[in-house]
This record gives sequence, structure tokens and C-alpha cells, in this order.
Amino acid sequence: MNYRHAFHAGNAGDCMKHALLMLLLGALQRKPAPVFVLDTHAGAGAYDLEGQAAARTGEWRAGIGRLLDDPPPALQDFAAAVTRLGLYPGSPVLLHAMLRPDDRMACCERHPDDHAALRARFAGEKQTGVHRRDAWEALGALLPPKERRGLVLIDPPYEATDEFARLADGLRRGHSRFAGGVFAAWYPIKHRVPVRDFFAAIQASGLRDVVAAELWWRAPLDPARLNGCGLLVVNPPYRFDEQAEPVLAALLDRLGERDTGAGMALTRLVDE
Ligand SMILES: C[S@@+](CC[C@H](N)C(=O)[O-])C[C@H]1O[C@@H](n2cnc3c(N)ncnc32)[C@H](O)[C@@H]1O
Repeated sequence: MNYRHAFHAGNAGDCMKHALLMLLLGALQRKPAPVFVLDTHAGAGAYDLEGQAAARTGEWRAGIGRLLDDPPPALQDFAAAVTRLGLYPGSPVLLHAMLRPDDRMACCERHPDDHAALRARFAGEKQTGVHRRDAWEALGALLPPKERRGLVLIDPPYEATDEFARLADGLRRGHSRFAGGVFAAWYPIKHRVPVRDFFAAIQASGLRDVVAAELWWRAPLDPARLNGCGLLVVNPPYRFDEQAEPVLAALLDRLGERDTGAGMALTRLVDE
């Protein structure tokens, strides 16, 4: 377990994931019934972009560093949430800030230090549970929620070579327990080949109603670099594509490296 999100917080991949997550939870909250959020790989919760880890990579400068100054309309809610929260908010802190009084959230984090930081952040907080448990096991143990409506974020670190395969299996297992849930899974785009194999696994899995939102800030040709990322969404809310399109376009405009094959896509992988 070498991965620490503090080195990558606020990078282009985080911005894409977090801006789209706000759309997904916002869409679920259009109805008054309570919503459950499960964040399977939650991280530490909030990150100091002036701290040592963030400074070491400087990744945030090509991400959130390009969005806060005069944000385009499609990114204004996201930029406002980041500004309001002070430190760069990870997924649990960003989603927690959106919870309504009857909504509930569970976060899982396996790294002892990040788990401790997240637990301290939500200490005394009744709506949010912080678990030091395995994400893949939690998909079985914490689903289905009593609310029967919810968002499940699966955001693994891709340290293991079989992470895409584990993700496809985790989505299938999670969905078998909570068929009506909205599942969002983040994945890196370094080169197209592993992503194509992942899509094929999803298409063969029996999952229905699946879309992939993707952004690549340069052509995905170098397998050693993070060139882009995607968010695979199972059971996307009504009109998710229409809402996601301007968000991706705004991110591409701000984060895409000029003349390097940058692009975006919204792809329906499996019909309803
Ligand atoms: C990409 S980071 C999560 C970032 C976070 N979702 C966000 O957007 O702010 C992945 C996290 O998963 C944790 N992790 C890795 N394997 C795990 C597992 N099997 N169960 C729970 N947490 C795990 C890592 O320690 C790391 O903090």
C-alpha cells in the first residue's frame, strides 16, 4: 500500500471525478427521499495543496490550479465548493458537504493514517460512518442500504496490475446487491488498450445502462503517464449525459494541453 492521495489531490483526474460526482449526487437529490452515499476508497478527506506531498508533484497546478480563477459556468458549483471548503476536498468531504439532514454516507479507507485523518474530520458526525475496511468487501457488507437510493463511488488507486479486473468484478457484485444504485467508478487513461479491455469486461458482465464519461488532456499514447481519466457510471440519472457534456467541455478547455490530441467523450457502453 504505497499510494497516498495527498500527492495527487486536486490534479486533473480529481477535478473531473469531483465535478461529475457533484452532478450525480445533485441529480439523486432532486427527489426528497433520503440518499445513501458509499465511498469505497475514500482517502484522507481534505488536502493541503501547499503541503509537502502536493508540492512534491505539483500535479494540482495542472488541475484545480487552472479552474478557480474565473471558472466557466459549468464548473462554477465545483469551484465554489472547493473555495468554500478551504483545503482541497477529497470525495468524502465534497459529498458530505452536499448531504441533506436525512441523507447518510459511509466511507471506507484502508490506509491507517488516511483512515485516522478521515475519522478525525468526521468525528461526532452522525450522518457519516468512517470504516477501516476493505473496499471490495464493503460492496457486499454495506449494500443494499436501507434508503434503497444512493450513489456508490469506487475509486481505487490502480497500484495492482489487476485493478481493472477487480473493478469490473466489484461493480458486478455491488450491482447484484443494489441494482437500483448509481455506481460511479473512476479509472485512469494512460493508454487505450487497458480501457478497451475494461469496457469489454463491462459489456460481458450483464450490467445494463452504463455510460463512460472521459477526458484526456493529451493523446493517451504513453502508458507510463496519466494522460486522461474516465468515470464509468452504471444507472446514470436522467439527462446525466446532457449535464456532463458542458462540464467535460469546460474541463477540456482549461486542462487540455493544446495541440496534443486532447479530447473528451461520453460513450454509452450498454443500453438500459
Ligand atoms: C484514489 S485514492 C481515493 C481518493 C478519493 N476517492 C478522493 O476522490 O478524494 C484511493 C484510496 O484508496 C485506499 N485504498 C486502496 N486499496 C483499498 C482497499 N482495498 N480498501 C479500502 N481502501 C483502499 C488508498 O489508501 C487511497 O487512500
